[in-house]
Amino acid sequence: MSLKTKYGITALVAGASEGIGAAFASCLAAEGFDLILIARRPEPLQKLADSLSDKYKVGIICMVCDLSDEGASEHVIASLDGKEIDILVYNAALSHIGSFIEHPAEGHNKAAHLNMITPMNLVHYFGGKMVEKGRGAIILMSSMAGLQGSGFLATYAATKAFNRVFAESLWYEWKDKGVDIIACCAGATVTPGYIRSKPGKVSLMAPAAQKPEDVVRECFSRLGRRPSFISGQANRFASFIMQRLLPRITAVKIMGDSTRKMYRL
Ligand SMILES: NC(=O)c1ccc[n+]([C@@H]2O[C@H](COP(=O)([O-])OP(=O)(O)OC[C@H]3O[C@@H](n4cnc5c(N)ncnc54)[C@H](OP(=O)(O)O)[C@@H]3O)[C@@H](O)[C@H]2O)c1
Repeated sequence: MSLKTKYGITALVAGASEGIGAAFASCLAAEGFDLILIARRPEPLQKLADSLSDKYKVGIICMVCDLSDEGASEHVIASLDGKEIDILVYNAALSHIGSFIEHPAEGHNKAAHLNMITPMNLVHYFGGKMVEKGRGAIILMSSMAGLQGSGFLATYAATKAFNRVFAESLWYEWKDKGVDIIACCAGATVTPGYIRSKPGKVSLMAPAAQKPEDVVRECFSRLGRRPSFISGQANRFASFIMQRLLPRITAVKIMGDSTRKMYRL
């Protein structure tokens, strides 16, 4: 069954202009969904919208909004003025790489808001509408960093753990209500944000970074079948060793050591 037949006609992608969010938007446009695309910078957002509407002849609304602002979810909901959303993809995230204490508390608050509070509020509103009508889908981006403590990514990792547990919990609550929700735990993925972070090579054994399109394809193939998943075979193998075979303290040390080495901290 196509995504459109199963879920409806309109998808909202929060954090859509580049990287994994843009790949979600492209995939959904190719499936024939009308789109609402959100990001802070208007130019890349409009450029993507123009190219997708030209190529796939779908309707696209661009919304410029900083989703880390306190009133962001209320703003998004009010701007949509009752418009039905059939698929919600929450992709935007903020990560501070480095010492927790040396980064201002304000920055950690912004990350907590962008990565947890805004998606929680949007899921509460749009998820509620989906449950009412008995169909819909929600995708929350999580990360392998959230599978255990990850030194030098403390707030980011903790917010990503939130997204996974949050999606899994709602998957259980909604499994008989026609609404699918999934947390996508990505590993390193070649996106502009990832490249800007200037990661170094950790070791020859580290899983290769995935392409955004591959993460998105895997996500749609698991949506409706699982509450969460780890993207990429090499990442699943690494996670099996870290989560199932090694003691948690070892997994936490490996993550912290890798991040320290990767970002020369
Ligand atoms: N890339 C990886 O290696 C990786 C690994 C694991 C998990 N993930 C997860 O995958 C997701 C996407 O990652 P990515 O690398 O594609 O991210 P990215 O390159 O940083 O792009 C994120 C998108 O979100 C938008 N955005 C960022 N902050 C925003 C804000 N405050 N308000 C509204 N929009 C905002 C950006 O556009 P503007 O800048 O114009 O706002 C951009 O379109 C994230 O949730 C991340 O945690 C990524």
